[in-house]
Amino acid sequence: MEKIRVYGEQKVNGKVHISGAKNAALPLLAAAILSEEGLTLKNVPPLSDISTMIALLETLGVECTVSSVGDYSETVTCKTDSIDNFTAPYTIVKKMRASILVLGPLLARFGHCSVSLPGGCAIGVRPIDLHLKGLMAMGAEVDLKDGYVQAKAQKGLKGTEFEFPISTVTGTENLLMAAVMADGETVLKNAAREPEIVDLANCLKKMGARIEGEGTSEIRVVGVPRLRHAEHSVLVDRIEAGTYAVAAAITKGQVDLIGGNFRKLLPTFIEKMEECSLIFEDIPNGLQAKYAGEIRPIDFQTEPFPGFPTDLQAQTMALLCLAGGKSVIDEKIWENRFMHVAELARMGANISVSGSQATVCGVDHLVGAPVMATDLRASFSLVLAGLAAKGNTLVDRVYHLNRGYCCAEKKLADCGVRVDRIK
Ligand code: EPZ
Repeated sequence: MEKIRVYGEQKVNGKVHISGAKNAALPLLAAAILSEEGLTLKNVPPLSDISTMIALLETLGVECTVSSVGDYSETVTCKTDSIDNFTAPYTIVKKMRASILVLGPLLARFGHCSVSLPGGCAIGVRPIDLHLKGLMAMGAEVDLKDGYVQAKAQKGLKGTEFEFPISTVTGTENLLMAAVMADGETVLKNAAREPEIVDLANCLKKMGARIEGEGTSEIRVVGVPRLRHAEHSVLVDRIEAGTYAVAAAITKGQVDLIGGNFRKLLPTFIEKMEECSLIFEDIPNGLQAKYAGEIRPIDFQTEPFPGFPTDLQAQTMALLCLAGGKSVIDEKIWENRFMHVAELARMGANISVSGSQATVCGVDHLVGAPVMATDLRASFSLVLAGLAAKGNTLVDRVYHLNRGYCCAEKKLADCGVRVDRIK
């Protein structure tokens, strides 16, 4: 199992080129299925989750050509005029829940498909009931058989009005993609507002879709007969940017985050970080995050966009372990996203969990220790804690890290910090 050795008491000082967003690239790759003319995606992050989605598309018969552009990005060209398999197999889907995003596009273009149920993952059960309810509201017949979702819409999908009882990111993305060639108008109410959904809508509109309201809680789609080829550059990764901002805070350093308008993409996170420990300054095509001289305790709860992103909760908790006081974190999105607490406690953190709330009492310092990554974002929170700790930290199971952070050790080296990957 691959590990990362993190040397303690380091200071981040430099610049990081932020890659394209994993959570934008995954639905965009699935969207390629919608058009027989294919899709070209630029600024795709070279991550293991992306490779998994490409493997899934190739299983369906999509021909993907991947070419690297520099160290931190790829161009993926999808040729989609020879899709001949409509089953997304458990062997692939079990590795990555986002595989469920091929459901809407396959139904939209071919009228039938069989997609393995994703199964849960470390952070929770992660049901897809709302994806299925929405598709049935559009006229799909859905059966669950042998662990697979068997879906068909022989007469094609029909536009409908569907209200999500709760905000779901991939649920909104699946139904948006299902709606673009449906017969008539679809209105998605209480739709998720994440920037990655706006990026998907922008790409679909380049392909000829008729969409409005993306980024608000009401998205309207008028179906069109077919979509055409388009070229689209993946939105920058706000979660990667937030992660490196925490790296600057926890090591009392500074970092130039290059690649996008992060104030717009991380409004609540930036507000909370200003309260806690960072000063932000606009720089060309990015944002500078600079340690403000102390780490103040803060309370926050994770919420759908534009609230505090759940995908930055673990990283921020690592920082609050060193705050001058008590912080309360309420994880309102996922029922089991505190597995990093036990690992941080091994490093001397003082955290207690009760239900969805974690209370973090700041300590004077953390101590390096062997720890284990439990999910994608928790893995980086342990690296961040290790950068500040006295002594070295050995993070095990770093395959989690490879899923969502490309070239982490190179990007950390670019801002003056050393970690070693150990096979
Ligand atoms: C997306 O997951 C992200 N993944 C997650 O990022 C992120 O944590 C999450 O949104 C919340 O922002 C991708 O975009 C690929 P949800 P998703 O559907 O869409 C419940 C990372 O670290 N729900 O918005 O799977 C669900 O259980 C990953 O990059 C239902 O009950 O999340 C959860 O409590 C981790 N029924 C809440 O909604 C459904 O049918 C939000 O989930 C769907 C969701």
